[in-house]
Amino acid sequence: MKTQDELKKIAGYRAAELVDDGMIVGLGTGTTVRYLLDALGERMKNEGVHFTGVPTSKRTADYGSKLGMTIKSLDEVDQIDITIDGADEIDPQLNGIKGGGGAQTWEKLVAVNSKQCAWIVDESKLVDQLGKFPLPVEVLAYGHHQLVKRLADLGYKPTVRQTADGENYKTDEGNLIVDLHLDRIQAPYDLADQLSNMTGVVEHGLFLDMTQTVVVGTQDGAVVKT
Ligand code: A5P
Repeated sequence: MKTQDELKKIAGYRAAELVDDGMIVGLGTGTTVRYLLDALGERMKNEGVHFTGVPTSKRTADYGSKLGMTIKSLDEVDQIDITIDGADEIDPQLNGIKGGGGAQTWEKLVAVNSKQCAWIVDESKLVDQLGKFPLPVEVLAYGHHQLVKRLADLGYKPTVRQTADGENYKTDEGNLIVDLHLDRIQAPYDLADQLSNMTGVVEHGLFLDMTQTVVVGTQDGAVVKT
């Protein structure tokens, strides 16, 4: 029986094959993406593949640079050929929740500027309905107590994400993350609109109609869903 980590590695290594020489590649964030980056580093060394990486977090930028990748910000490139990123939950329509690592704002910015997107996950991330995984919402620190109250009044059970030291978690943009404990998201499109329209919300982790491909690490190897 393969561990969850081994399944993430299977997905990351398989997805690295989606990158062709000369591409501009959006690089996601998270533990599965780490394996993707390792695999891409190996392809650079062993096959001489060259590409430009557009990272979705400082963590990914640092790790990619360490592996010798050419890293550019979203503002320095034209259009991204493909973005490969992790996800926290994916439903049968290939809609997902992202932001477990707090990077969903940059991740969405990079995704919407990409010709195509692929997500890489272990099989435990595939669900029938989104919502068990708390939905991350990036919010401005200013006035966040009021926003959290509004979200609580709506029944969304918000919690402000904390670090291990008990401090408020800060995103790469210096904002906070509020996690919504929804259990089941019955109407994801309505919820996405509602959150997008709330003043103080920077970006939420519902990624709807954004990916065309999901590479799943399973006990039987990599499975590609489209
Ligand atoms: C980062 O903010 C997230 O969107 C990640 O892509 C997501 O949480 C998946 O992360 P793992 O690959 O670490 O599970």
